[in-house]
Formats: sequence, C-alpha cells, structure tokens
Amino acid sequence: MANETSGRIDNVMQEARVFPPTPEFQAKAAISSMEQYQQMWDEAKADPPAFWDEIAKTDLHWFEPYRKTLEWNEPFAKWFVDGKTNASYNCLDRHLTTERRDKPAIIWEGEPGDTRTLTYAELHSEVCRFANGLKSLGIQQGDVVSIYMPMTPELAIAMLACARIGAIHSVIFAGFSAEAIADRNHDASARLMLTSDGAWRRGKELSLKATVDEALAKSPTVEKCVVLKRIGNDINMQDGRDIWWHDLIESVNDDCLAEPFDSETPLFILYTSGSTGKPKGIKHTTAGYNLYAKKTFEWVFDHREDDIYWCTADCGWITGHSYVVYGPMAAGATCVMYEGAPNFPDEGRFWELIEKYKVTILYTAPTAIRAFIKWGDEWVDKHDISSLRLLGTVGEGINPEAWMWYHEKIGAGRCPIVDTWWQTETGGIMMSPLPGAIPTKPGSCTKPLPGIIPGIFDENNELCEKNQGGKLTITHPWPGMLRGIWGDEARYKQQYWSSVPHCYLAGDNARIDDDGYYWIMGRIDDVINVSGHRLSTIEVESALVSHPNVAESAVVGRPHDIKGQAIAAFVTLRDAEPSDELKADLKLHVRKEIGALAAPDDIRFTAVLPKTRSGKIMRRLLRDIASGKEVAGDTSTLEDLASLAKLRDED
Ligand code: WT7
Repeated sequence: MANETSGRIDNVMQEARVFPPTPEFQAKAAISSMEQYQQMWDEAKADPPAFWDEIAKTDLHWFEPYRKTLEWNEPFAKWFVDGKTNASYNCLDRHLTTERRDKPAIIWEGEPGDTRTLTYAELHSEVCRFANGLKSLGIQQGDVVSIYMPMTPELAIAMLACARIGAIHSVIFAGFSAEAIADRNHDASARLMLTSDGAWRRGKELSLKATVDEALAKSPTVEKCVVLKRIGNDINMQDGRDIWWHDLIESVNDDCLAEPFDSETPLFILYTSGSTGKPKGIKHTTAGYNLYAKKTFEWVFDHREDDIYWCTADCGWITGHSYVVYGPMAAGATCVMYEGAPNFPDEGRFWELIEKYKVTILYTAPTAIRAFIKWGDEWVDKHDISSLRLLGTVGEGINPEAWMWYHEKIGAGRCPIVDTWWQTETGGIMMSPLPGAIPTKPGSCTKPLPGIIPGIFDENNELCEKNQGGKLTITHPWPGMLRGIWGDEARYKQQYWSSVPHCYLAGDNARIDDDGYYWIMGRIDDVINVSGHRLSTIEVESALVSHPNVAESAVVGRPHDIKGQAIAAFVTLRDAEPSDELKADLKLHVRKEIGALAAPDDIRFTAVLPKTRSGKIMRRLLRDIASGKEVAGDTSTLEDLASLAKLRDED
C-alpha cells in the first residue's frame, strides 16, 4: 500500500525522540500548553460550526453578516451562508486604519539582487490600480484570469486584484509547458492571461512570454494578455491582444472599491494532479478559505506582530496561495518574497536573505532541506541566522535525519519545527504541531488542528487501531475545504467522497502512534511526489505515449536523495530502435507536454511491460527495478521484463 516511500517509513516508524518546546518559546506563545491545545480541539470537536462561528465573527470583515455558519449538503458545503465579504479587503483595507498601514507587507528580492518593499498602504494602492486595469479590460465577477508569472510582487498584486473584483484567478506555475497552459486555459475558459516578458533562473533568462504565445495560439477563450516587463528581453507583442502591464495601469486611479461578495463566491482555481491523466481544477471560495488560511497561519506560525516571515514556496502552488498571500496578509504579517533559485549566485543565498532581512520564521520544503545538507554546512556558517525563532516544512514527509539537521544546524536546537500536513484540496494546514504547545517527533506531523477531525480506516472501512496504517480521511467539513473540481461534479464526488461513507478521502495512508501522533505513510493512489510537487504517473505516461515512437509506457517513482522521488519510465517502442538519442528526445517531449518538473529521470526500453495474468502492470516489480533492486544501470538496451514478470506473477 504505502508504496514508493516504504523504505523511509520503516525508518520513521522507529523514531522515538521527542522535542518539547523550549520554556523561552512557550513563554511568548499564544497557545502555550498541551492542555490549552487539547481544550481547543475538544471544544471544536463537540460542535465544529459553533467553534468556527466564534472565530469568523471577528477574524474576517463582514459587509453583511452570515445567517448560518454551515449548510452541509454532502459533499457540498456552504460556509458562512449569505455573508458578504471580500478577500482583498481582509488582506489589505482592514489594516489601513491600524498601525499596520505603514508596516511592510512584502519585502521582495529579485534573483539578481534588486529589491522592493511594499507597505500595506502601498500594496493596497497597487492592487487597486491593477484591479482598475482589469476592469478597463472588461474583466468582471466570475471571469477566469490565468496567471503565469515569476515570483514578483506583481504576482501577489494580480491575485489580490482579481479577488477585489470577483474575478477567479488560476495561477499556473511558471515551469509548466505551453501545452499545460493551454489545457488549463481551456478547462477553465479563461478570458485573460497575465504573464511577464521573462524571468530569472540561476542567472539565465527564461522566456515566459514565448511559452505563453505558444499556449495562446491554442487558447481561443483568452482575449487579451497583460505582460509585465521584468527582465527586458526581446519579445513578441501581438497587436490587439497583448498589453504592457505598465501601460494598463498608467492612466487608472488607485481607488477601487472592494465589492461585497457572497461568502461562497469562487476565489480561485488551482490545478493539481490526481490519479488520472487530466489535472483537476481545485475550486476554493472566498470566506471559508480566507478565514482558514488566516487562522491556521496564526496558530501554526504563532504569528507575532514583529515577525519577519518567509515562506519559500512559489505562488504557483497552494502553499504560495495560502501562506504567501491569503493567510499572512489577512493576519497583517510581513512577508519576505524571493524570486529565484536557492543556489544563485551561490548555495548560501537563503541564509544570506535570512541574515539580511532578519527573518524570524522560515517555511520551506524537505527537498530544499536535503539539498542544503548536500551543499554543506559551510554555506550556513557564513551567515548569522540567529534571528530565526521558528521553522516549518511542507510538501512531503521529512526524513528524521533531515529533520535533525534542520533542527540543529538551522534552528540551533532552539527553534521548534512545524511539519505541516495538508493538500491543495484542504486549502490550509490540517495537521501540524502548534509550536508552543505540542512536543515534536522527527517525521510526524503530530496532531490535527482545532476543528479538524481525522479518521483512519482500513479496507473494510472500519476505524483502524493504533499503529495500524489505513486510509486517512477527514470526518467533518472545515471552512478551507475545496468546494469542488472545476466543471466536474461527478469526479469530485467519486474522488473524495466515495471510499469511506461521509468522509473526505485525502488519498494518503497514515497511522496514529501510542501517543496519538499522526504519521503520514505516502499516497494510496498513483500519485508521486517529486520535490514536494504532486505528479500523476498516468499523466507522465500519457505524455510519453503521445510520442510517435512510444507504444506503451509505465511510470513509477523511485527514491531520490534530494527530490524525495524521481520519475522512472519504462517504455515499449514502435517503429524505432532503442538509442540514447531517443531517450533524450522522450525526456524533451515530456518537458514540452507537461513541463520540466515532469521529465523522467530514467527511461528504460523494454520489449514488453510486465503484466499480471489479469493484465495489470506490475508496478511493484517496476518500482523494485527502478530503485536498482533487480537490474543495474540505466542502459539503452532492451530489457526483457517479461521473463522477470513470469517469476513474480502477483497482483
Ligand atoms: C500531498 C499534497 C500542502 C502543500 C504542498 C503539497 C503530501 C504534503 C506533507 C507532510 C507528509 C505531505 C501528501 C499530500 N504532503 N505535506 N507534511 N507530510 N506528506 O500540496 O501538491 O496538494 O500535495 O503532499 O501526500 O497528500 P499538494
């Protein structure tokens, strides 16, 4: 069941070290004891809507109050029914009448070292201007705006401007291919595209606009494209379609009313991989999502007014939505935002940034931590990172060794680590230590947040015993939950609500230990996790099969030191002989179809794919081979996997 990562899980299961919060941390923490956490959690469990009602009344601004906290028509939730609010107002306007008005909202640094700081008042006026720009293009409530941009302040400005006028943003990570952009534009019927001329990555120019041009040739629903000048490279501007960002906002004013929207107004769509070939557009709505992002940000990061918070995620992923923009900004936090690679101009860039901006909270991914370990402690030692007080991780489980390094080398043995388990679908963090209250164990995301009631079930849908792994579900709706899959109600029901009656199926396996701590054990479906990013093996297989020389393919994950999992592809050919050139061509093809992050690390040619008598691809065998257990080397020769399959005919 828990498949590709099972080697690591054994490791994790023997982990016995416990790290309570230090008294110094606890003394200042808002939630500062296990008893306090337990009391909150118990109270929330007794009546979840009542618990959220208390929070929502004060934590969001309401133009008009809601009449009911939750209307649950399984599996469709309406939170804060008939209330009127605006996410952009909650993130910006609310702070303008307080001392936060002149507090930095975004401290940004570009990869080449250029910098920009925007206070809440300045960010507000930039957002208003761009929202007016959007309006001048005829964008209205309900229109979908695709965003394909580097990590610049304008990316956050664009998201908040959409929210301000009720347009639905669909951010597409700027590493995806033209093909992937076109698919998403089509699925969401996007009317407008936002991009930049290019972006910096490890000192090189990425030509985002050229990729967008290719995508727009296949995106008939997109009428216009707004282009931010970021790097000044030569680009094509199509007459009548393309508009420079600076031209669009030149003659608009910085006054744009945040319109009151119904609580359930769609806020954004974010595409993520599922167990089939087609990415799903996960739909989030306004009030519940915004509240959940804000509250979980405050709880998990124990946010204090003078924190300098840095979440290293790109806004192309849910982490960037919830913990770069909507959570911290609704909480009035100061966020560091960095455009580029962690190893440019050298491997010390992150520590340099932490020293320079006196970052107090760092939220990053295990894959980055593993890379830092490999690069060596000397990069850390060059900088004074003693401003840090709290560390976080997200995206995949963290190996205990990496956890210990993070704790000792980065956290000086003093900073708590919050290992946060959640998903694009959950909108915000679901399980995590509350750093002042819950002792941590390396590799465990510890406990569910207040208001989150998990259940772990076996194949017969009986609740699992302690230490028995099973399907992780959430048994009661929560405000940040997805409201559906864009345009596909049936898939929403089938995917998330059909396995365990009345429960949301997360798609991960998990177990609870003797202390009631949760351990995530890996996916139950054909989803692999590459550098903290979700990929469906079937999606990569489909891309491979669309190549004229590929007859059939099977893709599995194999362990990888830095990425967590690497992509291994087994391919049978047609009208072609195996060669290194063809391998390179297939990798390039997947890059073109999906994006660089999906390009297989290994490709093996085989005469046939090993299948069971019932015709199922023997993925377990392929995983063994891919991880080097059966066949050594990455050769171009044809392997006869059929004979191996005969030896191990298993379902
Ligand atoms: C999947 C969700 C949540 C934002 C980033 C990824 C895995 C995520 C953890 C963690 C173990 C984790 C799960 C989950 N995952 N965080 N702390 N421990 N596994 O979002 O792309 O929607 O992927 O990532 O398998 O289901 P996503």
